[in-house]
Amino acid sequence: MKDAFGIPQSLLVLGGTSEIALATARRLIARRTRTVWLAGRPSPTLERSAADLRALGADVQTVAFDALDPESHETVLGKVFAEGDVDMVLLAFGILGDQAHDERDPVAAVRVAQTNYTGAVSAGLIAARALQTQGHGSLVVLSSVAGERARRANFIYGSSKAGLDTFAQGLGDALHGTGVHVMVVRPGFVRSKMTTGLPEAPLATTPEAVATAIELGLRRRSETVWVPGVLRVVMSALRHVPRGVFRRLPVQ
Ligand SMILES: NC(=O)c1ccc[n+]([C@@H]2O[C@H](COP(=O)([O-])OP(=O)(O)OC[C@H]3O[C@@H](n4cnc5c(N)ncnc54)[C@H](OP(=O)(O)O)[C@@H]3O)[C@@H](O)[C@H]2O)c1
Repeated sequence: MKDAFGIPQSLLVLGGTSEIALATARRLIARRTRTVWLAGRPSPTLERSAADLRALGADVQTVAFDALDPESHETVLGKVFAEGDVDMVLLAFGILGDQAHDERDPVAAVRVAQTNYTGAVSAGLIAARALQTQGHGSLVVLSSVAGERARRANFIYGSSKAGLDTFAQGLGDALHGTGVHVMVVRPGFVRSKMTTGLPEAPLATTPEAVATAIELGLRRRSETVWVPGVLRVVMSALRHVPRGVFRRLPVQ
């Protein structure tokens, strides 16, 4: 069960090597999280990530999970929930893709959409149902500001995040009043392996800052979290900029 401050005792990460997810797990373990499941594509990095969290005192297990194999999600998540209550599911998997390349390779573009959107629809619905059966818990979804408004430079990724974000908002409404809480997290540019080598965007932040915002959001039972928080204001202004003007902005 979560404590009175909303901090989970048990955590399931979908996308177990995500730098944002691991920063969040470290932060929550420093509070009171004791059991962590890292679900991800089997790799030495996944096992190393589990070992690093174990060294912090948590009981950590890995489980094979592939966002691109939705038929397997019921079995994978079912196995975790069968072991005991899960207080928080962090949906952290995602790929950025390579916009210029993917525009010429529609199969690669579809892989971005299938990973970030349809993979999350499947895993999100299954996690939500399991949390609802328990009668408590949080589903925390890593969306992105990229889903707020299409940008020339990353609209394939952005459109997948827009779909994910809308899905997660609706799921939150569907679960309202059931004891299950859905929190949509919208970071801007985060310095992680996903963005290594890319020119840094304004208001760039860190996995640790996202983790801090997630902890605060859990305590407040927030439905939407922006990181950094000022992006809420920036994006609400940018959302209303006419297309012709937006195309000429340096954010493109
Ligand atoms: N970094 C940013 O600027 C930023 C900004 C806003 C939102 N986000 C979102 O935050 C989330 C975490 O990003 P991050 O910065 O922590 O990036 P990251 O370190 O690159 O993590 C991405 C994670 O997705 C996993 N993944 C990719 N394809 C998968 C698949 N088919 N099945 C299962 N797992 C898969 C990766 O696993 P493998 O180890 O198997 O590759 C990795 O665990 C993503 O959803 C991302 O879109 C990131």
